[in-house]
Amino acid sequence: MKKLKVALLGAGDRGKIYCNYALIRPEELEIVSVVDTNTFRLNEAADRYGVPVERRFTELDEFLKSGIECDFVVNATMDEMHYETSMKIIRAGLNMILEKPITGKLEELTDIERAATEMNVKVLICHVLRYTPFYRGIKEVLDSGRLGKVMNMQLNEHIWHGHFVNAFVRGKWRSEKTCGSGLLLAKCCHDTDLISWLNNSTKPKYVSSFGSRSFFTEKNAPEGATQYCFECPRKEECMFNAYKFELEKDFIPFYTWAGLNKPLDEITLAEKKEFLKSDVYGQCVYKTDMDIVDRQCVSVEFENGSIATLNMVGGASAPGRYFHVLCEYGEIVGYIEENKYVVRVFDKDKVWYEDEVIDLNKINKLQDNDNSVTGHYGGDYYLMKDAVRYFSGIGESVSVTKLADSINGHLIVYAAETSRKERRIVEI
Ligand SMILES: NC(=O)c1ccc[n+]([C@@H]2O[C@H](COP(=O)([O-])OP(=O)(O)OC[C@H]3O[C@@H](n4cnc5c(N)ncnc54)[C@H](O)[C@@H]3O)[C@@H](O)[C@H]2O)c1
Repeated sequence: MKKLKVALLGAGDRGKIYCNYALIRPEELEIVSVVDTNTFRLNEAADRYGVPVERRFTELDEFLKSGIECDFVVNATMDEMHYETSMKIIRAGLNMILEKPITGKLEELTDIERAATEMNVKVLICHVLRYTPFYRGIKEVLDSGRLGKVMNMQLNEHIWHGHFVNAFVRGKWRSEKTCGSGLLLAKCCHDTDLISWLNNSTKPKYVSSFGSRSFFTEKNAPEGATQYCFECPRKEECMFNAYKFELEKDFIPFYTWAGLNKPLDEITLAEKKEFLKSDVYGQCVYKTDMDIVDRQCVSVEFENGSIATLNMVGGASAPGRYFHVLCEYGEIVGYIEENKYVVRVFDKDKVWYEDEVIDLNKINKLQDNDNSVTGHYGGDYYLMKDAVRYFSGIGESVSVTKLADSINGHLIVYAAETSRKERRIVEI
């Protein structure tokens, strides 16, 4: 297989995760250029991948003008930059993997799809869950026809407090106004994608949804609480007190301390304490400028009459992405956190069921014996592995998230948001 050349646009958390594939599979991938508006991040990533100074850019336009050849671009900018940057990349005739969500606007989604078709450019969307051995295994069982047609899917995404607060209350996805994505789009376009992909012999047709912000609101702030935790008279009794939650527990340090623009291991305790006095990570969770929901449910009816429900909860005591599909002659059920699922087949002769437990903790380690495979239950690694094969022309796995194939999941989100806001059933 020919070694592919990649340019990284947006050298943040996600971009580096994908490009790290070049470090563990250097015979397959080489990072030839890095582009980031933040010079600390630009140089940190470029140093990591051995990209020379003349191939580092702070502007996408400079990279596009440079004539540096690459087989594809990794576009891992934040949600609100996806449209502008993707259109430029596509118009330059470059293939791309684009972080989800594609965009929060239907017109922009249509523009991107049209431009990619016109330019004959390949675009993959980073729906990493499709690439996990968990969902890929479920997809293979469903496609085998063993269980008959899909009748009903039930999905839950419980986002535990540590993740929810750091990403959606104090974090960079807390405001749809600035980030361009509501919670459903930012967190659960993966789940709406799974709903569409696992049942793709048909298409989603009708959508309804309810949801709002119920917990992280000013009315739930302890009486007398201040905007910043450092001066709050109620901080000792508050579980979200930034000095406990961010500093002591430090659940997701690469989110919390990103604004300091320093390598994590060089940031001092004093710098962190000072930072929390003026940054949103030091603010009261009930008083930030968060403008998104903290729970939402979605129902979908497909053209063939099958149905699906998704329950998303922001701020749960434990993480839990639950999946249950019921088909004509059996079911599949499991939590991805456990990395195992049960295939339940109804035996027509015995008129009873048998459970087959697929424990990926035992099976998967044998496939790619590498500890770096773990992000998103293997999804991050397998996405890059499949992407390299796809862009090389070697072949397409069942997971491959081509642009046209990723659209239905986004359409479900757009329809659900319209339904939630306008209190009506929406036809896609
Ligand atoms: N697939 C998944 O499961 C998953 C998980 C988390 C995040 N994401 C998505 O990945 C994307 C990136 O998230 P992240 O956490 O890595 O964000 P990040 O903020 O860590 O990284 C984004 C980078 O883009 C840079 N940037 C911003 N504007 C730019 C521009 N015009 N040109 C070049 N660089 C620019 C920023 O300086 C930053 O370094 C988001 O869209 C996010 O929603 C996907």
